[in-house]
Amino acid sequence: MGILKIKNLIHDYIDEEEDSKFRAIDNVSFDVEAGQFITILGHNGSGKSSLAKHINALLMPTEGSVWIDGIETTNEERVLDIRQTAGMVFQNPDNQIVATMVEEDVAFGPENMQVPTAEIWKRVERALGSVNMTRFRHKSPLKLSGGQKQRVAIAGIIAMEPKCIVLDEPTAMLDPVGRNEVIDTLHSLNEEKGITIILITHHMNEAIKADRVFVMDKGKLVMQGSPKEVFSHVEKLKNLGLEVPQVTELAYMLKKSGLNIEDGILTVEELMMQINENR
Ligand SMILES: Nc1ncnc2c1ncn2[C@@H]1O[C@H](COP(=O)(O)OP(=O)(O)OP(=O)(O)O)[C@@H](O)[C@H]1O
Ligand SMILES: [Mg+2]
Repeated sequence: MGILKIKNLIHDYIDEEEDSKFRAIDNVSFDVEAGQFITILGHNGSGKSSLAKHINALLMPTEGSVWIDGIETTNEERVLDIRQTAGMVFQNPDNQIVATMVEEDVAFGPENMQVPTAEIWKRVERALGSVNMTRFRHKSPLKLSGGQKQRVAIAGIIAMEPKCIVLDEPTAMLDPVGRNEVIDTLHSLNEEKGITIILITHHMNEAIKADRVFVMDKGKLVMQGSPKEVFSHVEKLKNLGLEVPQVTELAYMLKKSGLNIEDGILTVEELMMQINENR
């Protein structure tokens, strides 16, 4: 079994006062192999955050099942194992800061897991290094930029040595520089440490280098494939209220205007090559 398995997952939010329910996840199934970089896209309200909460056992299935590294999320005795295996990073870095010094903030998770002190400091050292924040270790997290704060939050998760990190729009509140810092950090953690990354985002550019892209709409998983496959469907994505990466859009417009250009162009280099072939 892969690191994550979701089978026929349904999530209904029940409103007892109104005696009504809302189906936020509607029969979703997929598997993720360890070491993959997954991006989940979808319009507002399509169920992405609800899905992320299932991966972290913050929500329980109404129907269907979720397994993290073979542990079913309904297994109450294993909740801590699940949360340690699949760490979660949220949108607002300010809500994730717990200490007055960066290194203490990163140490907080392993401390709670009762990791021995000497081991904690080794982990803090490694975690800060892997997000490139070592030189800020004695600073107050409050004095950092948004991108730096988010990297500290990621270091705090890494210090718990998860196999998988789920990030729910971690770049939504960041400027372009901070966004790039965070996305580059995620790719290097994925490539160098083999950590499985599940990235939820509204920024299409952040999906370009993923191994697989999932698209959600109204609680359903409506598209999945490589970035090239998914971004080949420009009209379909637009109908789902989504954009495509800028280069993909440009390539698509050139194609519509008569040039012979492939679908699903993702980089400037690819586009340049295709344009040259039209000369
Ligand atoms: N606690 C809740 N109670 C009732 N309905 C909820 C609750 N949380 C979310 N919903 C509804 O479930 C649907 C999916 O919400 P969710 O937050 O998972 O979407 P999302 O894809 O993360 O959206 P966004 O892009 O805005 O973050 C929405 O229609 C939302 O209003
Ligand atoms: Mg959300």
